[in-house]
Amino acid sequence: TREAKLDLVTKHIKPFPDFPSKGILFRDICPILKDPGALTAVIDLFEEHVRQTHPQVELIVGLDARGFLFGPLLAQRLGVGFVLVRKKGKLPGPTVSVAYKLEYGEAEVEVQEDAVAPGEKVLLIDDLLATGGTLCAACELMKKQNAEVMGCMVIIELKELNGVEKLKPNTLFSLVQY
Ligand code: PRP
Ligand code: ADE
Ligand code: MG
Repeated sequence: TREAKLDLVTKHIKPFPDFPSKGILFRDICPILKDPGALTAVIDLFEEHVRQTHPQVELIVGLDARGFLFGPLLAQRLGVGFVLVRKKGKLPGPTVSVAYKLEYGEAEVEVQEDAVAPGEKVLLIDDLLATGGTLCAACELMKKQNAEVMGCMVIIELKELNGVEKLKPNTLFSLVQY
């Protein structure tokens, strides 16, 4: 059942206080990847959501680095392609980029100019939403490419940082909330 799957996923998220800096409670998804059942549950839950809510999706867009762990598995399930949004300087050829702030630090995301066609219906995926800076920048990037952003998906949503507000008008689907 959906409840059993969510329970399995939740059990495989490990909290680390004061990482990578003091005051940050880091939610680690590595145990999910180490457990085939938990990983399958994550992809099952995302797949169910997409089939029910966004059946017209044409492309899954995953965020560097932890979005790369789940995005391609979901894209394969759905029978659609996967596109990488990377941190700056990693992609060859012409690219577009957007700068953003992290819960800890700063960064810039980039996509290959020809990766997404105008009007293409995309869903963005990452492991976690904190301040929303990363997903927000990736959504901007998709809009620069004239893609149609259908929504964002994460395993973990950190409610107190209110990233959902920052993401608006883009929508968020999350499996686990803290
Ligand atoms: C983490 C996490 C999300 C982002 C969330 O990535 O994987 O992508 O932070 O934070 P935000 O909502 O405040 O933007 P990070 O950049 O630390 O690196 P990684 O994915 O490469 O491990
Ligand atoms: N990325 C940003 N904030 C994070 C947190 N608290 N745990 C894991 N990844 C994060
Ligand atoms: Mg990340």
